[in-house]
Amino acid sequence: MFISFEGIEGSGKSTQIKIISESLQKKGHDVISVREPGGTEVGEKIRKIFLQETTENFDPLTEVLLLYASRKQLDNEIIKPNLKKGSIVIADRFFHATKAYQCYGKGVELNLVEYLHKTLNISEPDLSIYIDINPELSRKRISNRKADRIEQESLDFFSRVQHGYLQLEKESKNFILVDGSKSIEKISGEIDSLIKELLNV
Ligand code: TMP
Repeated sequence: MFISFEGIEGSGKSTQIKIISESLQKKGHDVISVREPGGTEVGEKIRKIFLQETTENFDPLTEVLLLYASRKQLDNEIIKPNLKKGSIVIADRFFHATKAYQCYGKGVELNLVEYLHKTLNISEPDLSIYIDINPELSRKRISNRKADRIEQESLDFFSRVQHGYLQLEKESKNFILVDGSKSIEKISGEIDSLIKELLNV
């Protein structure tokens, strides 16, 4: 079983991933959590390159290729072997993030991402949970931490990313929106029910 979590910065993904992982483990499941970009030795090196500030113009296509280099490695090293063993894999972001950030946010063609994903034969989540908050609330929630290269983008950029996620929700199956402005307990209750209902675990 493969579940991914999506949302803009400060949406509460990490908190919810922790809660659901513990709850699934208590039920006796073997749970593996990973993050993107990163999650492997090679992937964490790519993550540094991806998030560090640069003086150059970072081409959005370079971003996509870095993300897919990291994703391929993560899929080979962690996701596929653990799914094969019957574990539940939970990813903090997966390919919907590339569509939202690089395609809707920065103008890369959606077809390119779909082509790369398919051609590289990368796993697809059984369920993706999108925690929706608006860019203003996101800004407020992350204002006390040092912004990385992506977090330094404008409010306009994050509005395009949010719009992208909302489009993906309309078009994709197994991509479910949860309202991220609700309390942590309310959201985790909803996620718990969704996972029970849709994945029977
Ligand atoms: P995070 O793991 O702390 O959320 O940081 C990852 C950052 O990378 C976040 O700003 C979103 C960005 N990102 C993309 O732009 N595209 C992607 O495909 C992924 C996985 C992340």
